[in-house]
Amino acid sequence: MKTLVIGGTGTVGSQVVEELVRHQVSVRVLVTSAEKAAQLPEGVEAVIGNLDQPGTLPKAFTGIDVVFLLNRQGHTEAAQGQYAIAAAKRAGVRKVVYQSIHNVRQGAHIPHFQPKITIENVLMQSGLSYVFICPNNFYQNDFWFTNAISTYGVYPQPIGDVGLNRVDVRDIAEAAVIAMLTDDYNGQHIPLVGPETLTGEVTASILSEQLDAAIYYRGNDLDVWATDARRSLPDWIISDWTKMYQFFQAQGLVASDQDIAFCTKVLGHAPRSYADFIADHLLAFHLHVEVA
Ligand SMILES: NC(=O)c1ccc[n+]([C@@H]2O[C@H](COP(=O)([O-])OP(=O)(O)OC[C@H]3O[C@@H](n4cnc5c(N)ncnc54)[C@H](OP(=O)(O)O)[C@@H]3O)[C@@H](O)[C@H]2O)c1
Repeated sequence: MKTLVIGGTGTVGSQVVEELVRHQVSVRVLVTSAEKAAQLPEGVEAVIGNLDQPGTLPKAFTGIDVVFLLNRQGHTEAAQGQYAIAAAKRAGVRKVVYQSIHNVRQGAHIPHFQPKITIENVLMQSGLSYVFICPNNFYQNDFWFTNAISTYGVYPQPIGDVGLNRVDVRDIAEAAVIAMLTDDYNGQHIPLVGPETLTGEVTASILSEQLDAAIYYRGNDLDVWATDARRSLPDWIISDWTKMYQFFQAQGLVASDQDIAFCTKVLGHAPRSYADFIADHLLAFHLHVEVA
């Protein structure tokens, strides 16, 4: 089987590539530059192209059986997904495994949720086989907050008091590869969720326990979050994520028992907990860990 990974140099896609290599599957990655191509693991084929330029896509899709597709958040996200699906269809690809979002249709008013719904709809009508990988908020987002956590003892992500069943990117990649290599989940949405519902306060208490230090949740004030976030993020992302955090604070993004059971069945093991994630990355979060 010949696979194509789109987004294969990013957070999820790079782990999908590693997982495919581990399964000794032939992998091609669509990369946006030669510099990015040079970062790929040995044995992985790179094809340079760009989802914003559909004319560059045919050479990436030719000869491919199964595609893993994700799209970076941006103003052209819906178009990029549709260009990829059209290129897959033209090239005779059999299946597309598309990364959407857990319960995406509940958040249809959120700008970066909308393109996922459009792309899901287009893929469902494409005639291609498909699987939707639907992750909750990634634990790995917390690498953005290592300084706030380690230096100031603060957890700054305003996720609220209802909670999210956040998930480890390692579990997303494992599930994506299972969906690519078997036909067991064709036509289905796979919820990629963690085992517990994490509120801001619960997150801070797990961090305190794992890091053996007092970590406080900074609270739900989205103006405080936006003032801080403006230092590193553009306005349009602040506006988009403010809507997302309002949604999280109002209704959460909570997995049902069935979601957790389905995710566990696909993975063949319980999804990783937040405590496991922190324990596996202590050096990133804890400035005072003694290095042997
Ligand atoms: N963070 C979360 O908690 C969360 C939860 C659920 C869903 N999601 C969704 O996950 C997706 C992001 O996944 P991620 O965090 O793994 O992404 P990421 O780390 O931002 O990586 C994006 C990847 O897409 C590639 N890419 C960007 N623009 C491209 C273009 N025009 N043509 C071809 N390739 C392009 C990038 O390549 P270059 O490196 O060459 O630019 C990179 O490999 C988004 O759709 C987001 O909404 C995120």
